[in-house]
This record gives sequence, C-alpha cells and structure tokens, in this order.
Amino acid sequence: MHKIESDPKRERFLEARALSELGGGKDKMETQHRQGKLTARERITKLLDEGSFNEFDKFVTHRSSYFGIDKTHYLGDGVVTGIGKINGKPVAIYSQDFTCWGGSLGVHHAQKICKVMDFAYNNQIPIIGMNDSGGARIQEGVESLAGYSEIFYRNVRASGVIPQISLILGPCAGGAVYSPAVTDFIFMVDDVSYMFVTGPDVIKAVTHESVTKEDLGGARAHCERSGVSHFRSKNEEECFQQVRALLEFLPSGNLSRPAAIPTEDPTARINHKLKDFIPNNPRRPYEMDDLIAEIVDDGIVLEVSQDYATNVICAFASIGGISIGIVANRPSSLAGVLDINASDKAARFIRFCDAFNIPILTLEDVPGFLPGTVQEYGGIIRHGAKLLYAYAEATVPLITLITRKSYGGAYCVMAPKHLRADVNMAYPTAEIAVMGAEGAVNVIFRNELKNLKENDLLSKRQELVANYEKEFANPYRASELGYVDEVILPEETRKKIYNYLVVLQNKIVERPRRKHGNIPL
Ligand code: HXC
Repeated sequence: MHKIESDPKRERFLEARALSELGGGKDKMETQHRQGKLTARERITKLLDEGSFNEFDKFVTHRSSYFGIDKTHYLGDGVVTGIGKINGKPVAIYSQDFTCWGGSLGVHHAQKICKVMDFAYNNQIPIIGMNDSGGARIQEGVESLAGYSEIFYRNVRASGVIPQISLILGPCAGGAVYSPAVTDFIFMVDDVSYMFVTGPDVIKAVTHESVTKEDLGGARAHCERSGVSHFRSKNEEECFQQVRALLEFLPSGNLSRPAAIPTEDPTARINHKLKDFIPNNPRRPYEMDDLIAEIVDDGIVLEVSQDYATNVICAFASIGGISIGIVANRPSSLAGVLDINASDKAARFIRFCDAFNIPILTLEDVPGFLPGTVQEYGGIIRHGAKLLYAYAEATVPLITLITRKSYGGAYCVMAPKHLRADVNMAYPTAEIAVMGAEGAVNVIFRNELKNLKENDLLSKRQELVANYEKEFANPYRASELGYVDEVILPEETRKKIYNYLVVLQNKIVERPRRKHGNIPL
C-alpha cells in the first residue's frame, strides 16, 4: 500500500491559505451574517462563474505599528482581489472584507486594489469593486489617504477604457464614495448599502438636521433622489443577478464590441401590438416601456436608474443579438418632458454607450423642456446642453424614431439628423414642430384672437388649431426636407431598426484632434 507522507512545505501553504481565507475570524463572519450581509469571499463566489476565481496577494499584510495595530496581521489585509469570469467572460474583482478592521483601507489594502485595477486596465477587462468599509484605516494615517487617491487616479484613467462597476455592500463614507462615483455603474442593496460624504452625526452637529443613515444614504435615497446609484435590489443575490445581466450587454473594453447575445427571436417579427398603440389624442399617455419590450429580443430590457428621472428611460437591450442602448422619453411620467435630472441621466448613459461601442436607439415623444424658475435657477441650460453635447460627440450608430411629439428644443437635442444621427424615422403619428398646436396658435394669432367675442373665439381657435395640426403636427414637413429618412408603420419597427443596425456596424467617424472637449458640467 502506498504510504501517505506528510509534506511540510505543502502543509505550511495549506495552513496559510486557510488562515487567509478565514479573514477576521468565524465570530466576525457570523456578525456579518447576522447583519444580513455576506462575507467578502461568499460575495465573490456568488457573483462569479463557478470555480473561475483566481486570487492575487493572499498573503499581503500591513506594516504599520501605530496604536497597537502591529499586534494583529490579517493575511490579505482586509481585501480579496483577483480575476474570474462572469457569463464566461473575464473580469477583475476586489471585495473588501469587513471582518478585518471593518474593511478599512490601509496602504497595502489600497495597493492590492490598485494592482488588480492595473491588471484590468492592461488587459481590457471590466473591473468590479465590492465596497464594504469603514473608510481610511485610521491607524495608517495619511498613507491610507494616499491609497484612496491612487485608486481615484486609476478610476479616472480607466474611465471609457474598461467598464467599471461598483457594488456598495456595507458602509461607504467620507471620500471613499468618490471611487464608486467615478465608475460607470453603482449597485446598492436595501438595508445593506450606505453612501455619504458625512454621516448623520456630523450632519446633526453642523446643520442640526436629524436624518437616519437609511434616509441619508441608503439604496432608496441614492436610486430615487440623488441619482448617484443606478441599480437597487432587495438582497445581495438579486444584486449579483443584476450585475451579471448588465455585463451581458457590455464589451470587455473600449477596443471591442459587445459579443452577440444569443436569441431565437426572429429579426423580421412584425409588431402587431404596436399597430394602434400610439393614442390619437396627443394628451393621452401610453407606456413607452411596453413599446420597447415589444421591439427588442425576447422582451428583455435592463433599465438603468429606473427610479430616478423617470421621465426618461435609459436601458440596455438587444435586437437581433446586437447590444443597444435605448434612450426614450416616457410620456406616462411628466409627459416625457426633459428636465435637469432627465438630461443628466440620459447624457451620462449616451456617453457610456458611445465609449463602449454600443449603438444608441432614441425613441422620441417629448413636448419640450420643463418650464419654471426651479429649472432655470437649477441650470437647465447647462444640464440640457449636456444632452445635446453627448449626442453630437457620439460616434456610435445613432438611430432615432419619433413616435409622437418632437417639439421645439427637444427636437433639436434628441438626436436629430443635424446632430449627426445616422437614421431618423418617424411614425405617421409623429408631430414635428416648433411647439404643440394650442401654444402655437396662441402665439401666431394672438392679435387676431384678442378682439373676438367668446363664442367666435372658441370656434376660431378650433379652426386654427386644426389647420396647424394639418400643416405641422405630422412627419411630412420634416420628410420633405430629408430630416426624416423614413416614415414607417409601427408594426415594422423591429425589422426596420434591425436592418439599419446591421448596415451601421462598420460606421467610422473622424473627430478633430484635441485633448478633450469641455462638456458643460
Ligand atoms: C480602522 C476601523 C475603521 C477605520 C472601522 N474600524 N472603521 N478601523 N479604521 N476607519 C474597525 C472598528 O474599530 C472595529 O474593530 C471594526 O472595524 C468594526 O467596526 P464597528 O464599528 O464595530 O462596526 P459597525 O458598528 O458596523 O460600524 C461600522 C462603521 C463604524 C459605521 C463603519 O466603524 C465607523 O463609523 N467607522 C469609522 C468611519 C470613519 O470615520 N472612517 C474614516 C472616514 S474618512 P474591531 O477590532 O472592534 O473589530 C475617510 C477618508 C477617505 O475615509 C478619504 C478619501 C478621499
């Protein structure tokens, strides 16, 4: 019989590995579980494809000696880093371990994160950060702060080069919020995630405001009110599913295109549901979400920031397996009007799609910009300008479909031909004009209407409105000028978009040499 001999070198390694994997110990792991949180390693295992994780720097420790920290050394220094796969595609990942000094960021912890970020950057693969940390490690002083700045620098350098994704899975406070803020997408979980620059206690001391940490910086606050976070989930498992779903639509980096998404949905499928979908009455809303679900592959849509600025929809989907970004006005929310938040949300989404070679489909039904002092003092001029800037600088395929209203400034900014959209289509229900009929008649015929008696006024106004609608509230003026390439029937929507997506795949646009543009921030 073969005798099993002990191998001290192997034993030493296995022991050290087990110790590293224990993080801050069983008790602290249990505390983490009691708080409804997974541990750093459980998170990685659940997010990545099974058995795909390769870990870096398992034995790194801190070298500080202040305030007794030299008495404890956690192997790995409170962060698990490495590479793995999601949906079969490589990703780089780091996951802060709250069981080791509250996941606080010391200099070697930071160096581990920087190393895996550099790996992702050099190899053009997405970087995923799982944040669960008490912030800068107090015992390591300014070196910890330096670590944060090194991470920020890498976030900025990688912006538009590789997709950067942040999961907030615990506290994320102080300046630590700014690394996630630079990344492309932030995911938060109810009752688990918190982000704030200053916490409730500091706020109380400085401004005397009382606010809970949930109301201040929980998932709901950032997904509905501030717009800082893009995805919200009920628990960590759901959060990981969302991340996996998002990555399906993205390329590994800016030098590649998203891989084809498998589908059996026929590209020439007729959209019967859309035949009488757009209401004849321009004041009646309809669900743009239903229109989108009808035209994309298998009805699968991943909406970004779905609870923020709901008057505009930003979503990923595919048509004929081609990944696309959709920007659409939502007539059922504030009539689909453009305001400050909607402009910011859409502009950022357009720039992401453009950076990562994802064609943009714009579905337009917008009465214009929201009037009012709140909007003007809030800088709607500056924010609205971001939207037109984002469209005009985009070099990915741009397809625009006007379903109904395309009025005034909204026509000018929502990817018209003049901002260099490639294909502009309209339904027969499209109304492309400077403004809606009622408003237009009030302006053009003000003097004529002013002197009429009440009865005459009503009938004259109706006549003028009807005349204006006939002349302008349609897609034909714009078609005559070539501003609309094609008026299409709603039931042909999917087929038409697919045909254009195919021919636009090799689009090349030269841009002038410059350091960078100056988008109105
Ligand atoms: C060192 C820290 C730490 C930190 C927590 N710990 N934060 N150690 N540096 N920043 C340690 C705790 O001492 C404790 O150690 C363990 O982590 C768990 O912390 P608890 O307080 O027991 O956990 P909990 O009650 O869940 O509270 C979590 C917390 C709280 C809300 C994050 O720990 C906290 O407020 N920490 C300080 C946060 C902070 O002010 N950070 C600096 C922010 S400024 P033991 O040994 O008991 O397990 C900053 C600058 C960044 O980050 C600048 C970037 C530009």
